[in-house]
Amino acid sequence: SSKAVILVGGGTRGTRFRPLSLDMPKVLFPVAGRPILSHALTALAAVPSVKEVLLIGFYDDSVFSDFLAEASREFPQFSIKYLREYRALGTAGGLYHFRDAILKGNPYRLFVIHADVCCSFPLNEMLQMFDDKEAKAIILGTHVEADAARNFGCIVTDDKKRVIHYVEKPETHISNLINGGVYLFDRSIFDVIGAARVAKIEDSVAAQFDDEDESREVLRLEQDILVRLAQTEGFYVYETRGFWRQIKTAGSAVPANSLYLQKLFQHDIDAPGLAKASAFIIPPVYIDPTASVDPTAKLGPNVSIGPRARVGPGVRIKEAILLADTEVKHDANVRYSILARGAKVGAWARVEGSPITLDEHQTVMVKNGARVQNICILARDVYVADEVRIQNCVVLPHKDIRTDVVNEIIM
Ligand code: GDD
Ligand code: GTP
Repeated sequence: SSKAVILVGGGTRGTRFRPLSLDMPKVLFPVAGRPILSHALTALAAVPSVKEVLLIGFYDDSVFSDFLAEASREFPQFSIKYLREYRALGTAGGLYHFRDAILKGNPYRLFVIHADVCCSFPLNEMLQMFDDKEAKAIILGTHVEADAARNFGCIVTDDKKRVIHYVEKPETHISNLINGGVYLFDRSIFDVIGAARVAKIEDSVAAQFDDEDESREVLRLEQDILVRLAQTEGFYVYETRGFWRQIKTAGSAVPANSLYLQKLFQHDIDAPGLAKASAFIIPPVYIDPTASVDPTAKLGPNVSIGPRARVGPGVRIKEAILLADTEVKHDANVRYSILARGAKVGAWARVEGSPITLDEHQTVMVKNGARVQNICILARDVYVADEVRIQNCVVLPHKDIRTDVVNEIIM
């Protein structure tokens, strides 16, 4: 059998996802009607050999208890557990710390997945490549624009797709092929991690670091492990042609929502919650069964409407996520926006971000020398009064907005 580890991070991370991560961990934020994490679980469910999924992070245990109960019902084919790091141990530190739990039952292959990527998860293809190449490790690679590549781990390969060079967030451009945050390993990865750990401890002793220095235990999969793997045989890249996006800023939930909705629409047009095309629905549109949407509201494309949300007559919504208990009153217009739980938009109001393209890997833009959001975000329980226009703003929780605002963070 195989296993999977999903790295979920913790409460001191994901700060760029604020204000949406104030209410819930980023990985539980719903896109296309389901928590970000569920999309990775769905992909793992399509790999028959996966019998156990371990979420590793440093959130309190209580954060995932409801999610785990629900996911266990939805995915009876594998067991799902949360393992908590006592503090942030880095992307490989948790793997090392929990190595006994991970290796229990002698799994044949191990997937390691960053929880904050949105992608087509070609996991079976990675397994196939692992066997074909008799590999020791496979990394998912994806191509991005040259000026975005430096924000990621960059990969250089030979003509057989073997990774010969890896640099995490390089200062200068080395490659457009980047680390997609999905890996496949065999057990030997723990030898590499063990060796990297010993080398790190020796370095810190040589540098006469304080014995109490906690950073010694931090191990980074990227700088500490992948760089080493690239010097060995058997490390290959699977280059995906499917969609791939990182979910970092709050605004990046909008393209993730669009990509997962489009995937659902293409693969399962009758999926529960997907609205049928009509004069008022431009697919894909997901509407929670408990939401109430007036038949004269025009929705889509790429819209998700959460539980108990209310959308009034004559409303226009596109490229947007409305969370639970939101309300959009009659004739209002919401586009390129996210409404967090309980946010309310008055009649004839406009809440607008700016159009984004799905192949750009940025969700902030620079206007008149200042960084502005291109996705408009209303945090929890924000109220936008009738006829008010909010454009490219982030509005922090519980604000009442009664005048027009453009390009601001409203605190
Ligand atoms: N359990 C645990 N413990 N998880 C962690 C920790 C930790 O200490 N630190 C980060 N993570 C999780 C995050 O929640 C996220 O899912 C993933 O590990 C990677 O997060 P970052 O360390 O913030 O790295 P990054 O997103 O800037 O870049 C990484 O991912 C890119 C792909 O999305 C790198 O691996 C890049 O090379 C890669 O391109
Ligand atoms: P689409 O909305 O996808 O057609 O994009 P677009 O950029 O062409 O939008 P446009 O502003 O032209 O408006 C499209 C539809 O939304 C039309 O039916 C408009 O009447 C309607 N619309 C535009 N602004 C508003 C608004 O503030 N409130 C409401 N209720 N409808 C609006």
